[in-house]
Amino acid sequence: MTVRDLHLLGSPMLRQRAAPVAAVDDEVRRLVDDLFETMRAAKGVGLAANQVGVARRVAVVDVGPDAPPPLVLINPVIVQHGDEHETAEEGCLSIPDVFGDVARPLAIIVEATDRDGRRYTAEASGFKARAIQHEIDHLDGILFLDHLSAVKRSLLLAKWKKARLGKSGYLKEVTPEPAGEL
Ligand code: NI
Repeated sequence: MTVRDLHLLGSPMLRQRAAPVAAVDDEVRRLVDDLFETMRAAKGVGLAANQVGVARRVAVVDVGPDAPPPLVLINPVIVQHGDEHETAEEGCLSIPDVFGDVARPLAIIVEATDRDGRRYTAEASGFKARAIQHEIDHLDGILFLDHLSAVKRSLLLAKWKKARLGKSGYLKEVTPEPAGEL
């Protein structure tokens, strides 16, 4: 397993719609393993393939022992969600140190393919449901910033640009980060 470099805000890869996976082969399984390895090294709770520069519909989520099991999400689709929404703070490994409140459905049913190529459905609620929705957004080229008001988004983008002053490129080598980012 390999810890891969992360693509940061500004990388065109994060705005690309990822392509469906036709078959779960060794390359896809290696990608899944690397996503888990990279997510854990970065102390994240979810990671999508385009965040490591691979435009395929593969993501992983592991919000910890309170909401097992960790999920492998290949070609994931939200097939149902409840009417109730919840607003909570989100961050993203591709936009370090930037956080914003996002409203999302509280409970969902997701359908996806696992590491063994089997299609499954899973129910999730609360933080886990939020993480799954955040990762599926990534596969569609959507970032949590896109869910914020224009005013809030420009404030956070200004903060981001300030923090990035003097830094070049959109790749980040993963080193230990504070916990809690998606
Ligand atoms: Ni993210």
